[in-house]
Amino acid sequence: SEQEQLYIQEIKQLMQSRNAVLVAHYYVDPVLQDLALETNGCVGDSLEMARFGRDHEASTLIVAGVRFMGETAKMLSPEKTVLMPTLEAECSLDLGCPADQFSAFCDAHPDRTVVVYANTSAEVKARADWVVTSSIALEIVTYLHEKGEKIIWGPDRHLGQYIQNNTGADMLLWQGSCLVHNEFKAAELASLKKQYPDAKVLVHPESPAGVAALADVTGSTSKLIQAAVDLPAQTFIVATDAGIMHEMQKRAPGKIFISAPTSGNSATCKSCAFCPWMAMNGLAGIKQCLTSGSGEITLDETLAKRARQPLDRMLAFAE
Ligand code: 13P
Ligand code: SF4
Repeated sequence: SEQEQLYIQEIKQLMQSRNAVLVAHYYVDPVLQDLALETNGCVGDSLEMARFGRDHEASTLIVAGVRFMGETAKMLSPEKTVLMPTLEAECSLDLGCPADQFSAFCDAHPDRTVVVYANTSAEVKARADWVVTSSIALEIVTYLHEKGEKIIWGPDRHLGQYIQNNTGADMLLWQGSCLVHNEFKAAELASLKKQYPDAKVLVHPESPAGVAALADVTGSTSKLIQAAVDLPAQTFIVATDAGIMHEMQKRAPGKIFISAPTSGNSATCKSCAFCPWMAMNGLAGIKQCLTSGSGEITLDETLAKRARQPLDRMLAFAE
C-alpha cells in the first residue's frame, strides 16, 4: 500500500543515516523479509541470523524476530546497538524454561553435559555447555554422544526426542514445547497426505514425534526452504509457521504449499500456523526504533559473557 511504501522509504533512509542493517527471521511479515533483502540485510534461520549479525560491520542491528534472537545478536556483538521492533516478542520455549528451575534440573544431574536450544534466555544459556539451533543440533549431539557424554536437553521436548531418536544419545529432556508447532496433528496430516499422495511433507522438528514421523524432510527453516526448491515435487505440505511460505514461493515459483493441519482447523486454515510473537514485528516498530532508539536490547555484561561461551562453541563447531 501507499502507507507501506512511505514507511519503507523512510526506513531505508534512517537505516543509512544510522548505519543500521536489518536481520529478519523467515516467520516475520513478508514485507519485512523483502525489506531486509532489498537493503542487503539478512533473512535466515536462527543460526544464519546470529552469524550475519556477528560478522556485519554495521554499528546497529535491527533484529526482526523474537527476543532470544535479539539477545543472541547482542551477546555476539556487545559493541553494537541491537534494536528490536518490539521487546514484547517472546517465545513459548523461553517462557516455559525459567532459569532457576532449569538450573536446579542441571544441578540434580551434575554428570551430564547441558545442551540448550537457542530459544532460551541469556540466564539459561549461561548455565549451558552448548547452545544449538535446529540446523546444527543433530550434528552437535551426535558429536557429544560419540564422545560418550550424557546430555541434559532443554527446553523443547519434541526437538529433544527427535534428536534422541536419531542419535541414540542418552538425553534427559526438559518438557517445553512451542505453541505453534505443538498444534500440528499427525492423524490429520496422514489423511491430508492421502488426499495429496504426491506431496512431500516438510516438518520443523519442534513438531510432535507423530508429525515428524510423516516427514520427507525435517530440519531448520532454511533447510525446509532448500528442500522445497530441491525436491522434484509439485506440492508440499508444510508443518511450521506459515510465514516461511513467502520465501518458498519466491524460490520455488509454481509449486504449491499447503499448511499442515492443526487442531480443530482445516488444511486451508490461514491463521492457525502463525507465531503470535513473530507477528508483532512490523514497519511501524522498525521506524520507531530507528527514530527513538526504542526496543534496545541490553544485557548484564557478566551474564552476556558467560552466555556467549556456549554460543561461540556452537558457532566454532558450525564453521
Ligand atoms: P530456525 O532456527 O529453524 O529458524 O527456528 C527458529 C524457531 O523459532 C522455530 O520455531
Ligand atoms: Fe518460539 Fe514457536 Fe514462535 Fe519459534 S514459532 S519463536 S519456537 S513460539
